[in-house]
Amino acid sequence: MKCTAVAPANIAFIKYWGRTDATLRLPANPSVSMNLSASTTTTTVEFSNGYSEDSIELLETGGFSAKENRRVIRQLDIVREYAGVNTRARIVTKNTFPKSSGAASSASGFAALTMAAASALGLTLPEKELTMMARLGSGSACRSIPDGFVKWEGEAAYSLYPHAYWDLRDILVIVENRAKDVSSSAGHDTAGTSPYFPERLKRIPDRLARLERALAEKNFRAFGEVTEEDCLDMHRVMQTQTPPLFYWNDATRTLMEAVRVWRSTGIPVYFTIDAGPNVHLLCEGNNEGRVREALSTMVGIADVIVNAPAEGAHIVTDHLF
Ligand code: DP6
Repeated sequence: MKCTAVAPANIAFIKYWGRTDATLRLPANPSVSMNLSASTTTTTVEFSNGYSEDSIELLETGGFSAKENRRVIRQLDIVREYAGVNTRARIVTKNTFPKSSGAASSASGFAALTMAAASALGLTLPEKELTMMARLGSGSACRSIPDGFVKWEGEAAYSLYPHAYWDLRDILVIVENRAKDVSSSAGHDTAGTSPYFPERLKRIPDRLARLERALAEKNFRAFGEVTEEDCLDMHRVMQTQTPPLFYWNDATRTLMEAVRVWRSTGIPVYFTIDAGPNVHLLCEGNNEGRVREALSTMVGIADVIVNAPAEGAHIVTDHLF
């Protein structure tokens, strides 16, 4: 049977960095994120006895490396094992944003793949189970399954608030389309070599409480402050692990500085950055125009993707083949 799923990327306000079990992708700390409306992966999976091997095709944005192919097949195997079948599959997938640019393509990719494959094999899994299965492909993928604003703790992820709860914007500024050198998967494994890693973990409970309070109260300033703080803290860990990971470039730093200047002129905007050079500008919907206008004066920007909060992964009827 053939099934197609669409899954959003997500942006974490409290980040997942480091884990207690690399194989099971169990996180060292809980994380909280928002699904992104304009950064999605669509994946069609068809299982058939007519296929002698699995085939994977990435449309439009370049192919997968051999390593990425293996990771996709490993995830298919997890779903097949759960369903108790051994049928091979054809997979066709498409992103709306550049792969491996820190735009979290692994999150939307593994969420869409897991949901489409499970559904194509006739599995009807509760959302919690699906988040657990997606997590095995990529940790952050579990946060792309539930609706809107999502918390991942331990094995599973769940929705804190639906996407319509708060009209936020994530203005993703793509400063460079070059694929990053170090994957975040490898980075998680050495996070513990940073002397600041235990420090960060100690601060997480208080930070989570502050973030969840800010979300409950829709207090944008408190939300922005704690989000920026955790981003900088994660990057401090990244930059001091062995080997150190530096994801920022000149354009990243220029934007981070610009955000501070914009704030001082009265524009309520904060930034966050994942494992790549691109900058996510966070503001409320009614300030989108002001942020975009401020951004239009900047040079060295390759692309801008404006995201609102989005629903989680879901099945659609339009197939890619
Ligand atoms: C920096 O989910 O990509 O974006 O579990 O190895 O696939 P794997 O890692 P991944 O890590 C994402 C790290 C991050 C922070 C976050 O999204 O929470």
